[in-house]
Amino acid sequence: MFDYKGKNVVVVGGTSGINLAIALAFAQAGANVAVASRSAEKVNAAVKLLREANPKGTHMGASFDVRDVDGLTAGFSQFNVHFSQIDVLVSGAAGNFPAPAALLSENGFKSVMDIDLLGSFQVLKQAYPLMTRPGGCIIQISAPQAFVAMPMQAHVGAAKAGVDMLTKNLALEWGCEGIRINSIVPGPISGTEGFNRLAPSAELQERVAKSVPLQRNGLRQDIANGALFLASPMASYITGVVLPIDGGWSLGGASMAMAELALLATTRAKE
Ligand code: COA
Ligand code: NAP
Repeated sequence: MFDYKGKNVVVVGGTSGINLAIALAFAQAGANVAVASRSAEKVNAAVKLLREANPKGTHMGASFDVRDVDGLTAGFSQFNVHFSQIDVLVSGAAGNFPAPAALLSENGFKSVMDIDLLGSFQVLKQAYPLMTRPGGCIIQISAPQAFVAMPMQAHVGAAKAGVDMLTKNLALEWGCEGIRINSIVPGPISGTEGFNRLAPSAELQERVAKSVPLQRNGLRQDIANGALFLASPMASYITGVVLPIDGGWSLGGASMAMAELALLATTRAKE
Protein backbone atom coordinates (compact mmCIF):
# COMPACT_ATOMS: atom_id res chain seq x y z
CA MET A 1 0.00 0.00 0.00
CA PHE A 2 2.89 2.40 0.69
CA ASP A 3 5.90 3.09 -1.51
CA TYR A 4 9.03 4.28 0.30
CA LYS A 5 11.47 3.49 -2.52
CA GLY A 6 14.48 5.82 -2.31
CA LYS A 7 13.43 7.26 1.06
CA ASN A 8 15.88 7.27 3.98
CA VAL A 9 14.54 6.08 7.34
CA VAL A 10 16.39 6.09 10.67
CA VAL A 11 14.99 4.08 13.60
CA VAL A 12 16.67 4.72 16.95
CA GLY A 13 16.06 1.77 19.26
CA GLY A 14 15.24 -0.15 16.09
CA THR A 15 16.97 -3.44 16.84
CA SER A 16 14.21 -5.38 18.59
CA GLY A 17 10.49 -5.55 19.28
CA ILE A 18 8.11 -2.91 18.01
CA ASN A 19 10.77 -0.61 16.59
CA LEU A 20 12.47 -3.43 14.64
CA ALA A 21 9.07 -4.30 13.14
CA ILE A 22 8.72 -0.65 12.09
CA ALA A 23 12.20 -0.66 10.54
CA LEU A 24 11.46 -3.88 8.62
CA ALA A 25 8.11 -2.54 7.39
CA PHE A 26 9.80 0.53 5.92
CA ALA A 27 12.46 -1.69 4.30
CA GLN A 28 9.77 -3.96 2.82
CA ALA A 29 8.11 -0.83 1.41
CA GLY A 30 11.36 -0.01 -0.41
CA ALA A 31 13.17 2.34 1.99
CA ASN A 32 16.84 2.55 2.90
CA VAL A 33 16.91 1.99 6.65
CA ALA A 34 19.39 2.69 9.44
CA VAL A 35 18.93 1.32 12.96
CA ALA A 36 20.69 2.09 16.22
CA SER A 37 20.84 0.78 19.77
CA ARG A 38 23.41 -0.03 22.48
CA SER A 39 24.22 -3.61 21.54
CA ALA A 40 26.44 -4.00 18.45
CA GLU A 41 25.29 -7.62 18.22
CA LYS A 42 21.61 -6.59 18.03
CA VAL A 43 22.48 -3.86 15.51
CA ASN A 44 24.27 -6.35 13.23
CA ALA A 45 21.41 -8.86 13.45
CA ALA A 46 18.86 -6.16 12.61
CA VAL A 47 20.85 -4.92 9.61
CA LYS A 48 20.99 -8.52 8.32
CA LEU A 49 17.18 -8.73 8.55
CA LEU A 50 16.82 -5.38 6.77
CA ARG A 51 19.03 -6.65 3.91
CA GLU A 52 16.85 -9.77 3.61
CA ALA A 53 13.69 -7.63 3.65
CA ASN A 54 14.92 -5.27 0.92
CA PRO A 55 18.10 -6.46 -0.81
CA LYS A 56 18.12 -3.43 -3.13
CA GLY A 57 18.15 -0.86 -0.33
CA THR A 58 21.12 0.66 1.49
CA HIS A 59 20.92 -0.38 5.11
CA MET A 60 23.22 0.34 7.99
CA GLY A 61 23.46 0.39 11.76
CA ALA A 62 25.27 2.17 14.55
CA SER A 63 25.64 1.21 18.17
CA PHE A 64 25.28 3.95 20.75
CA ASP A 65 23.49 4.73 23.99
CA VAL A 66 21.04 7.64 23.62
CA ARG A 67 22.39 8.91 26.99
CA ASP A 68 25.86 9.37 25.47
CA VAL A 69 25.94 12.57 23.40
CA ASP A 70 29.36 11.81 21.86
CA GLY A 71 28.17 8.37 20.75
CA LEU A 72 24.94 9.84 19.37
CA THR A 73 26.86 12.51 17.45
CA ALA A 74 29.20 9.90 15.95
CA GLY A 75 26.23 7.70 14.99
CA PHE A 76 24.33 10.49 13.28
CA SER A 77 27.54 11.52 11.44
CA GLN A 78 27.62 7.98 10.01
CA PHE A 79 23.96 8.27 8.97
CA ASN A 80 24.77 11.62 7.33
CA VAL A 81 27.56 10.06 5.26
CA HIS A 82 25.28 7.31 3.92
CA PHE A 83 22.00 9.26 3.78
CA SER A 84 22.52 12.93 2.88
CA GLN A 85 19.08 13.59 4.38
CA ILE A 86 16.59 11.77 6.60
CA ASP A 87 13.00 11.48 5.33
CA VAL A 88 11.65 9.59 8.34
CA LEU A 89 13.05 9.45 11.88
CA VAL A 90 11.56 7.05 14.42
CA SER A 91 12.65 7.70 18.00
CA GLY A 92 11.79 4.68 20.13
CA ALA A 93 14.66 3.79 22.48
CA ALA A 94 13.22 3.19 25.95
CA GLY A 95 13.67 1.34 29.20
CA ASN A 96 11.02 0.07 31.57
CA PHE A 97 10.68 -2.05 34.70
CA PRO A 98 7.78 -2.24 37.14
CA ALA A 99 8.61 -0.63 40.47
CA PRO A 100 6.51 1.06 43.14
CA ALA A 101 7.45 4.74 43.44
CA ALA A 102 8.13 4.46 47.17
CA LEU A 103 10.81 1.84 46.54
CA LEU A 104 12.31 3.35 43.40
CA SER A 105 15.77 4.88 43.85
CA GLU A 106 16.63 8.29 42.44
CA ASN A 107 18.92 6.58 39.96
CA GLY A 108 16.17 4.15 38.90
CA PHE A 109 13.83 7.07 38.15
CA LYS A 110 16.65 9.00 36.48
CA SER A 111 17.75 6.10 34.25
CA VAL A 112 14.28 5.93 32.63
CA MET A 113 14.03 9.72 32.35
CA ASP A 114 17.51 9.83 30.79
CA ILE A 115 16.76 7.12 28.21
CA ASP A 116 13.14 7.90 27.32
CA LEU A 117 12.91 11.69 27.67
CA LEU A 118 16.35 13.27 27.58
CA GLY A 119 17.46 10.58 25.11
CA SER A 120 14.54 11.37 22.80
CA PHE A 121 15.35 15.08 22.97
CA GLN A 122 18.98 14.41 22.04
CA VAL A 123 17.94 12.10 19.18
CA LEU A 124 15.56 14.73 17.77
CA LYS A 125 18.22 17.43 18.08
CA GLN A 126 20.75 15.30 16.20
CA ALA A 127 18.24 14.51 13.46
CA TYR A 128 16.88 18.04 13.08
CA PRO A 129 19.56 19.48 10.74
CA LEU A 130 19.40 16.34 8.56
CA MET A 131 15.61 16.18 8.11
CA THR A 132 14.22 16.67 4.60
CA ARG A 133 12.63 20.10 4.24
CA PRO A 134 9.80 20.18 3.39
CA GLY A 135 8.44 16.68 3.89
CA GLY A 136 10.49 15.26 6.77
CA CYS A 137 8.51 13.19 9.26
CA ILE A 138 9.37 12.28 12.85
CA ILE A 139 7.56 9.59 14.83
CA GLN A 140 8.09 9.21 18.56
CA ILE A 141 7.13 5.97 20.27
CA SER A 142 5.27 6.83 23.44
CA ALA A 143 3.17 4.65 25.81
CA PRO A 144 -0.27 4.76 27.45
CA GLN A 145 1.47 5.50 30.77
CA ALA A 146 1.94 9.06 29.41
CA PHE A 147 -1.72 9.87 30.05
CA VAL A 148 -3.17 6.87 31.93
CA ALA A 149 -2.03 6.52 35.54
CA MET A 150 -0.71 3.02 36.26
CA PRO A 151 0.74 1.57 39.46
CA MET A 152 4.49 0.81 39.40
CA GLN A 153 4.94 3.08 36.38
CA ALA A 154 5.51 6.58 37.85
CA HIS A 155 8.95 6.83 36.22
CA VAL A 156 7.72 5.71 32.77
CA GLY A 157 4.58 7.88 32.96
CA ALA A 158 6.64 10.98 33.76
CA ALA A 159 9.10 10.26 30.97
CA LYS A 160 6.59 9.41 28.25
CA ALA A 161 4.34 12.38 29.16
CA GLY A 162 7.43 14.49 28.49
CA VAL A 163 7.97 12.69 25.19
CA ASP A 164 4.44 13.61 24.06
CA MET A 165 4.86 17.26 25.07
CA LEU A 166 8.12 17.30 23.08
CA THR A 167 6.10 16.05 20.11
CA LYS A 168 3.62 18.91 20.48
CA ASN A 169 6.19 21.63 21.11
CA LEU A 170 8.41 20.61 18.22
CA ALA A 171 5.43 20.26 15.87
CA LEU A 172 4.81 23.93 16.68
CA GLU A 173 8.43 24.98 16.23
CA TRP A 174 9.37 22.89 13.19
CA GLY A 175 6.08 22.90 11.24
CA CYS A 176 7.03 26.07 9.35
CA GLU A 177 10.07 24.20 7.96
CA GLY A 178 7.85 21.42 6.61
CA ILE A 179 8.80 18.90 9.32
CA ARG A 180 5.93 16.95 10.88
CA ILE A 181 6.20 15.17 14.23
CA ASN A 182 3.70 12.82 15.87
CA SER A 183 3.67 10.26 18.70
CA ILE A 184 2.40 6.70 18.41
CA VAL A 185 1.12 5.14 21.63
CA PRO A 186 1.27 1.33 21.32
CA GLY A 187 -1.11 -0.72 23.44
CA PRO A 188 -0.04 -4.08 24.92
CA ILE A 189 1.95 -5.67 22.10
CA SER A 190 2.44 -9.46 22.12
CA GLY A 191 5.93 -10.92 21.96
CA THR A 192 7.74 -7.78 23.11
CA GLU A 193 10.14 -7.04 25.95
CA GLY A 194 8.04 -4.15 27.21
CA PHE A 195 4.86 -6.22 27.54
CA ASN A 196 6.70 -9.25 28.96
CA ARG A 197 8.14 -7.07 31.72
CA LEU A 198 4.71 -5.76 32.76
CA ALA A 199 2.74 -9.00 32.31
CA PRO A 200 5.32 -11.79 32.67
CA SER A 201 3.16 -14.87 31.86
CA ALA A 202 0.72 -16.08 29.22
CA GLU A 203 -2.04 -16.06 31.86
CA LEU A 204 -1.43 -12.40 32.76
CA GLN A 205 -1.25 -11.42 29.09
CA GLU A 206 -4.59 -13.12 28.49
CA ARG A 207 -6.11 -11.08 31.36
CA VAL A 208 -4.79 -7.93 29.70
CA ALA A 209 -6.30 -8.97 26.35
CA LYS A 210 -9.72 -9.14 28.03
CA SER A 211 -9.33 -5.53 29.21
CA VAL A 212 -8.82 -4.29 25.62
CA PRO A 213 -12.09 -3.14 23.98
CA LEU A 214 -11.11 -4.96 20.76
CA GLN A 215 -10.46 -8.09 22.90
CA ARG A 216 -6.92 -8.86 21.80
CA ASN A 217 -3.38 -7.78 22.48
CA GLY A 218 -1.69 -5.92 19.63
CA LEU A 219 0.76 -7.17 17.05
CA ARG A 220 4.01 -5.46 16.17
CA GLN A 221 2.65 -5.09 12.64
CA ASP A 222 -0.29 -3.03 13.99
CA ILE A 223 2.20 -0.39 15.11
CA ALA A 224 4.31 -0.66 11.95
CA ASN A 225 1.16 -0.06 9.87
CA GLY A 226 0.48 3.14 11.83
CA ALA A 227 4.05 4.34 11.26
CA LEU A 228 3.83 3.67 7.50
CA PHE A 229 0.62 5.71 7.38
CA LEU A 230 1.87 8.62 9.52
CA ALA A 231 5.03 9.03 7.43
CA SER A 232 3.12 8.89 4.13
CA PRO A 233 1.65 11.70 2.02
CA MET A 234 -1.78 10.49 3.21
CA ALA A 235 -0.92 12.01 6.60
CA SER A 236 0.62 15.21 5.21
CA TYR A 237 -1.67 17.49 7.27
CA ILE A 238 -1.20 15.57 10.53
CA THR A 239 1.30 16.95 13.02
CA GLY A 240 1.54 17.28 16.80
CA VAL A 241 -0.81 14.33 17.29
CA VAL A 242 -0.54 11.65 20.00
CA LEU A 243 -2.08 8.61 18.33
CA PRO A 244 -3.01 5.55 20.41
CA ILE A 245 -2.82 2.30 18.42
CA ASP A 246 -4.11 0.13 21.21
CA GLY A 247 -7.48 -1.42 20.40
CA GLY A 248 -9.03 1.19 22.70
CA TRP A 249 -7.02 0.02 25.76
CA SER A 250 -6.17 3.54 26.97
CA LEU A 251 -9.88 4.44 27.19
CA GLY A 252 -10.06 2.72 30.57
CA GLY A 253 -9.01 -0.93 30.49
CA ALA A 254 -5.30 -0.08 30.76
CA SER A 255 -5.63 1.46 34.20
CA MET A 256 -7.77 -1.37 35.59
CA ALA A 257 -5.61 -4.14 34.08
CA MET A 258 -2.36 -2.66 35.40
CA ALA A 259 -3.85 -2.18 38.87
CA GLU A 260 -4.86 -5.86 38.85
CA LEU A 261 -1.37 -6.94 37.71
CA ALA A 262 0.28 -4.78 40.37
CA LEU A 263 -1.94 -6.28 43.09
CA LEU A 264 -1.14 -9.81 41.90
CA ALA A 265 2.61 -9.06 41.82
CA THR A 266 2.50 -7.63 45.36
CA THR A 267 0.47 -10.57 46.71
CA ARG A 268 2.80 -13.09 45.07
CA ALA A 269 5.89 -11.25 46.39
CA LYS A 270 4.49 -11.50 49.95
CA GLU A 271 3.74 -15.26 49.64
N1 COA B 1 13.22 -2.23 40.11
C1 COA B 1 13.71 -1.16 40.73
N2 COA B 1 14.84 -0.49 40.32
C2 COA B 1 15.45 -0.96 39.22
C3 COA B 1 14.99 -2.07 38.49
C4 COA B 1 13.82 -2.72 38.97
N3 COA B 1 13.29 -3.79 38.36
N4 COA B 1 15.81 -2.29 37.41
C5 COA B 1 16.76 -1.33 37.48
N5 COA B 1 16.54 -0.54 38.55
C6 COA B 1 17.38 0.56 39.03
C7 COA B 1 18.76 0.05 39.42
O1 COA B 1 18.75 -0.53 40.72
C8 COA B 1 19.59 1.33 39.32
O2 COA B 1 19.40 2.15 40.44
P1 COA B 1 20.50 2.17 41.66
O3 COA B 1 21.79 2.63 41.06
O4 COA B 1 19.91 3.15 42.64
O5 COA B 1 20.56 0.77 42.21
C9 COA B 1 18.95 2.04 38.13
O6 COA B 1 17.64 1.49 37.97
C10 COA B 1 19.73 1.86 36.86
O7 COA B 1 19.91 0.46 36.66
P2 COA B 1 21.02 -0.11 35.65
O8 COA B 1 20.81 -1.59 35.55
O9 COA B 1 22.38 0.39 36.05
O10 COA B 1 20.60 0.66 34.32
P3 COA B 1 21.03 0.44 32.83
O11 COA B 1 21.31 1.76 32.31
O12 COA B 1 22.05 -0.63 32.69
O13 COA B 1 19.65 -0.18 32.19
C11 COA B 1 17.26 -0.15 32.42
C12 COA B 1 18.50 0.62 32.02
C13 COA B 1 17.25 -0.32 33.94
C14 COA B 1 16.07 0.68 32.00
C15 COA B 1 17.23 -1.59 31.80
O14 COA B 1 16.06 -2.25 32.24
C16 COA B 1 17.27 -1.58 30.28
O15 COA B 1 18.35 -1.51 29.70
N6 COA B 1 16.12 -1.66 29.58
C17 COA B 1 16.04 -1.67 28.10
C18 COA B 1 15.05 -2.70 27.59
C19 COA B 1 13.65 -2.41 28.02
O16 COA B 1 13.39 -1.90 29.13
N7 COA B 1 12.71 -2.72 27.14
C20 COA B 1 11.33 -2.40 27.32
C21 COA B 1 11.07 -1.09 26.63
S1 COA B 1 9.54 -0.45 27.16
P1 NAP C 1 12.52 -3.50 23.21
O1 NAP C 1 12.49 -4.66 22.28
O2 NAP C 1 13.31 -3.64 24.48
O3 NAP C 1 13.00 -2.23 22.39
C1 NAP C 1 13.79 -1.19 22.95
C2 NAP C 1 14.83 -0.81 21.93
O4 NAP C 1 15.55 0.34 22.41
C3 NAP C 1 15.87 -1.90 21.70
O5 NAP C 1 16.30 -1.83 20.36
C4 NAP C 1 17.01 -1.51 22.64
O6 NAP C 1 18.21 -2.09 22.15
C5 NAP C 1 16.95 0.01 22.50
N1 NAP C 1 17.47 0.74 23.67
C6 NAP C 1 17.14 0.56 24.98
N2 NAP C 1 17.84 1.41 25.74
C7 NAP C 1 18.62 2.13 24.89
C8 NAP C 1 19.57 3.17 25.09
N3 NAP C 1 19.86 3.63 26.32
N4 NAP C 1 20.19 3.70 23.98
C9 NAP C 1 19.91 3.24 22.74
N5 NAP C 1 19.01 2.26 22.51
C10 NAP C 1 18.38 1.72 23.57
O7 NAP C 1 11.06 -3.06 23.68
P2 NAP C 1 9.60 -2.92 23.03
O8 NAP C 1 8.68 -3.47 24.03
O9 NAP C 1 9.54 -3.37 21.62
O10 NAP C 1 9.42 -1.32 23.10
C11 NAP C 1 9.67 -0.47 22.00
C12 NAP C 1 9.03 0.89 22.23
O11 NAP C 1 7.61 0.74 22.35
C13 NAP C 1 9.48 1.61 23.49
O12 NAP C 1 9.58 3.00 23.24
C14 NAP C 1 8.36 1.33 24.47
O13 NAP C 1 8.27 2.31 25.49
C15 NAP C 1 7.16 1.38 23.54
N6 NAP C 1 5.97 0.65 24.04
C16 NAP C 1 5.97 -0.71 24.08
C17 NAP C 1 4.83 -1.38 24.46
C18 NAP C 1 4.78 -2.89 24.46
O14 NAP C 1 3.70 -3.47 24.65
N7 NAP C 1 5.87 -3.55 24.23
C19 NAP C 1 3.69 -0.67 24.84
C20 NAP C 1 3.72 0.73 24.81
C21 NAP C 1 4.87 1.38 24.39
P3 NAP C 1 19.55 -2.25 23.06
O15 NAP C 1 19.21 -3.12 24.22
O16 NAP C 1 20.56 -2.85 22.11
O17 NAP C 1 19.96 -0.87 23.47
